[in-house]
Amino acid sequence: MSKTVLIILGLLVAFVGRKQSPTDLTNNNVIPRPVIISATGNSFQLNESTSIYITVNLPELNQSAKYLREKLQAATGYELKIIPTKETPSSGIYLTTVNNEELGSEGYELLIEKKLLTLKANNAEGVFRGIQTIRQLLPVAIEKSSVQKIAWKIPTGTIRDFPKYEYRGTMLDVARHFLGVEDVKHYLDLMAYYKFNVMHLHLTDDQGWRIEIKSWPKLTEIGGSTEVGGGKGGFFTQEQYADIVNYAADRYITIIPEIDMPGHTNAALASYPELNCNGQATKLYTGTKVGFSTLCTNREITYEFIDDVIGELAKLTPGPYLHIGGDESHATKTDDYIPFIERVQDIVYKHGKIMIGWDEITLAKLNKRSIAQYWASAENAKNAIQQGVKIIMSPARKAYLDMQYDSLSPLGLHWAGYIEVDTGYKWNPATLETEIGRENILGIEAPLWTETVTNRADMEYLIFPRLAGYAEIGWSPTDGKSWNEYKHRLASHGNQYDIWGINYYRSKLVPWSKE
Ligand code: ACM
Repeated sequence: MSKTVLIILGLLVAFVGRKQSPTDLTNNNVIPRPVIISATGNSFQLNESTSIYITVNLPELNQSAKYLREKLQAATGYELKIIPTKETPSSGIYLTTVNNEELGSEGYELLIEKKLLTLKANNAEGVFRGIQTIRQLLPVAIEKSSVQKIAWKIPTGTIRDFPKYEYRGTMLDVARHFLGVEDVKHYLDLMAYYKFNVMHLHLTDDQGWRIEIKSWPKLTEIGGSTEVGGGKGGFFTQEQYADIVNYAADRYITIIPEIDMPGHTNAALASYPELNCNGQATKLYTGTKVGFSTLCTNREITYEFIDDVIGELAKLTPGPYLHIGGDESHATKTDDYIPFIERVQDIVYKHGKIMIGWDEITLAKLNKRSIAQYWASAENAKNAIQQGVKIIMSPARKAYLDMQYDSLSPLGLHWAGYIEVDTGYKWNPATLETEIGRENILGIEAPLWTETVTNRADMEYLIFPRLAGYAEIGWSPTDGKSWNEYKHRLASHGNQYDIWGINYYRSKLVPWSKE
């Protein structure tokens, strides 16, 4: 063999070797982008004798350790031991606590050394968020469901990470088309991967009532019996809803239930004649128009109904919030709408919850703890700010997951515009509207309305890959944000989506890998 061939071979081996031994922690594809990363140029390797140590100071970490073990098990084939400890181990993975104000309730610190990978946080929630980073730092094959023969290496260095906004949510409309418990859990798993902490469930609308209310059973018997297009609909029993709430809580995600009112209520109006001003039940509705229905705001029975519904739902919901909708009540006179919202607000607080509503609710006099969800009107957001009310940012033209990517998208609507993957990423909640500043914002939420979504694959197509961008807007610092840098990290997540079998939109703007 000639010298040149040997040199080329040597370079090839070095190159391949380097690909297999990642050693630069700053060169990662983590989404959302961590706050601070520094690299030390070596690597930690997971193998079958690695143990997961947990500090005895926080028993909840046993859950975190089991979750981590489960996430690593299928692809590695390793069944990692979980060992409670009082002392810092010399090797393995170590989940432990720290007392660090900057990290807050969700931040974490990852110290990756050659022999020891330490994940520290103020509490188990922070450890859970940090575990998502560990998953993303390992070779992507870690997401596979069968054993892979791979060197499971992570480059050494330090990551210190915490969220920009305390509220990072998604919304799923299960009213227009019903999506079942397994679909919701699937979404929760994907949200957890991107460090979301809230799922808002839009449980009722003109086309369907999707949550069992024991004191008003016809809501689901009648109101839950169909959906857009006339399909069979469906609903969550209270047990199923509680199962979703628990599944979410295991992922440190809060469920916020929404009962939309006084508009968007045809399913209720069709179920109970007494909720209508003329005392007659409406017909079930399976179209997609909005703004035609209203509860009868000057009948006492309406408030007894709301008190019962909110009372049952508040008992089933451990999280602090309850969403009352309040949007697009075009069939309710403003003079009726305002006192209605104020009275419903009292009912929500009576049942121990903080009220959230779409931005129209700011026409009413709000409790300062109430929260307005901005979707369309900067004027309404201004009303919120004047009342000292915080805002969740869900601008339809930037953050609605049901908007089409472009005019060729087979699913979705476009009344708020097309939202290509870059459009969904390139906006800043704190500068989008001159009226709304960082100090007014609780966080962001990306809603998926389901007029055109009939099943899990449809849902995935509209959610992915835009969801990753909303995660980054909610979590990562604005400094250093760049679409041109982000699109490469996003492209690498296409490999995860392929492994998971996710039906995602392969935008031409993203340099996906070839196969
Ligand atoms: C909404 O899109 N009607 C909140």
